[in-house]
Amino acid sequence: MLTNMLSIVSNDQTRPIRMVQITDTHLFEDPKTCFLGMNTENSFQSVIELIKQEHSLQNPKEQASIVNTVLLIIATGDIAQTPSATTYARFLDRMKTLEQPCIWLQGNHDLNHLLLETPQQQANKNLIELGQQWLVIMLNSSNDHETEGAFSSKELNWLTEQLKSYPDRHIIVALHHNPLKINSTWLDQCGLSNANEFWEVIDSASQVKAVIHGHVHQVFEATRGSIQIWSCPSTCIQFKPNSETFSVDILPPGYRWFDLYHDGRIESGVSRISRMPEGLDFNSQGY
Ligand SMILES: [Fe+2]
Repeated sequence: MLTNMLSIVSNDQTRPIRMVQITDTHLFEDPKTCFLGMNTENSFQSVIELIKQEHSLQNPKEQASIVNTVLLIIATGDIAQTPSATTYARFLDRMKTLEQPCIWLQGNHDLNHLLLETPQQQANKNLIELGQQWLVIMLNSSNDHETEGAFSSKELNWLTEQLKSYPDRHIIVALHHNPLKINSTWLDQCGLSNANEFWEVIDSASQVKAVIHGHVHQVFEATRGSIQIWSCPSTCIQFKPNSETFSVDILPPGYRWFDLYHDGRIESGVSRISRMPEGLDFNSQGY
């Protein structure tokens, strides 16, 4: 496992560091294609506009007066519904308009080798130093063409090494698949299959503050000991919580934000676009 590190400087010790998570954009090679009736390209763009509005990214003069400036954006997988170099390049071009480093990891719909071939090499990082206190570890729980997630032993060994190497950092671990059951039978059947091995590694490191993920297209929040677990809404369709079978929710797309305090505290919340994009088939039985 190669370690690709990015260091992001935060000079302001008086304010928390803001990180933004987006997930499950499900973009198509042809941007006019719809996913269960919803145009995922447009809904993704609407979420980008929302992030800009809420962080005044389009008006740098105002940045001094706002409470939080985004320092890092992470995308937790299922970037493409039809993975191709074109799809990924377009994703990264759109992310670039946020004018902050954007880091991605692979979801079950993605193809890692195509992601790695994109020209925007900056996005290919798995370790991010965020200010002097925080570290974000990006893991790959996906295997090409498999819906269910599973960490390779190489990936878990690499995670163990990183946790040993950074005993004094507050750590956030990010992955695509849900590492806990979320009480939706159909999604729990395709979560992280070797979650027990993953938690064994995490439990050995008291500096891990949070585990964050995508995949479930809904908000899920839990604690496990002192660790907080958060999922993020998709930038396109949402799945209904507590469902036995595939079920689409009426909530609009959104993103998650995190405020990382220097003492290890995290505040987090979700923000959604105000109007539901048109066209979604709420009676869909799956895809
Ligand atoms: Fe997804």
